[in-house]
Amino acid sequence: MTQRPTALVTGGSRGIGRGIALELARGGYDLVISHVSHPDTGPDGRPVESPAAQTVRDAEGLGARAASCRADVSKSEDRARLVAFVRERFGRCDLLVNNAGVAPLQRMDLLEATEESFDRVLGINLKGPYFLTQAVARWMIEQVKADPARRCRIVSVSSLSAYTSSTARGEYCVSKAGLGMMTQLYADRLAEFGIGVYEVRPGIIETDMTSVVKAKYDTLIAGGLLPIRRWGRPEDVALAVRAVAEGRLDYSTGEVINVDGGFHIRRL
Ligand SMILES: NC(=O)c1ccc[n+]([C@@H]2O[C@H](COP(=O)([O-])OP(=O)(O)OC[C@H]3O[C@@H](n4cnc5c(N)ncnc54)[C@H](OP(=O)(O)O)[C@@H]3O)[C@@H](O)[C@H]2O)c1
Repeated sequence: MTQRPTALVTGGSRGIGRGIALELARGGYDLVISHVSHPDTGPDGRPVESPAAQTVRDAEGLGARAASCRADVSKSEDRARLVAFVRERFGRCDLLVNNAGVAPLQRMDLLEATEESFDRVLGINLKGPYFLTQAVARWMIEQVKADPARRCRIVSVSSLSAYTSSTARGEYCVSKAGLGMMTQLYADRLAEFGIGVYEVRPGIIETDMTSVVKAKYDTLIAGGLLPIRRWGRPEDVALAVRAVAEGRLDYSTGEVINVDGGFHIRRL
């Protein structure tokens, strides 16, 4: 077992997850990041160049032990393999960050959107984290029972879409609203084990996911949509996760942390 605390960050290859992984590395965590798009090794068995490999290298450069594991969070066999990977390589998991998530492949009006897209988005954004949390929480309980001084924590990255209607991506909104209840449920169930559970709600963050709607949000932000008039960055979200990881919120659980430039404030 490694001496440093270990975090599992899903979707740590790019965007917000990468930002979180690197901030945790700076904060003294070892890391496993998961990703889905690229194989970890080529046909010759050697590691392949990929965004995940880059994040691992950058985390190592910050002093962390780091590894990546290709695992589709929506698939139960991949989740089991991912947890087994963390156990084998690091022997502990102190922090789970449910970050991996997708937008619908195509934005479609609520009255036209398909079941196929609903199943895909809910599978990755809600069912995946729900059951990954279950698997990791069981292991965290084991760890805490073996060493009552250990503190384990779970963070899920939801979205302002948890409470904001976008009728061209209803399935995304529903998935993020579900993560909110998931956080409440696990916070309630795991409090007796000292495991804190948190929801981080990013606003509009500059990543690949939002690159397709950049012009639209540039205009909205310039027009005053956000009290803090700038795009969010992955580092903004990462700092909130680091605060949790460092135990700054240990007497809070089930908490929602908005990282959104003040978007959630109702204004007149
Ligand atoms: N960007 C925003 O404005 C914003 C706002 C609010 C909330 N969020 C949420 O923040 C999280 C990260 O978003 P992002 O903007 O950083 O997205 P991104 O740049 O598109 O990165 C998505 C990450 O998730 C991974 N991923 C996608 N599908 C997966 C699957 N089935 N299994 C495992 N990993 C998977 C990707 O891996 P590969 O690299 O292998 O493809 C990648 O690491 C998401 O949950 C998103 O909903 C984003």
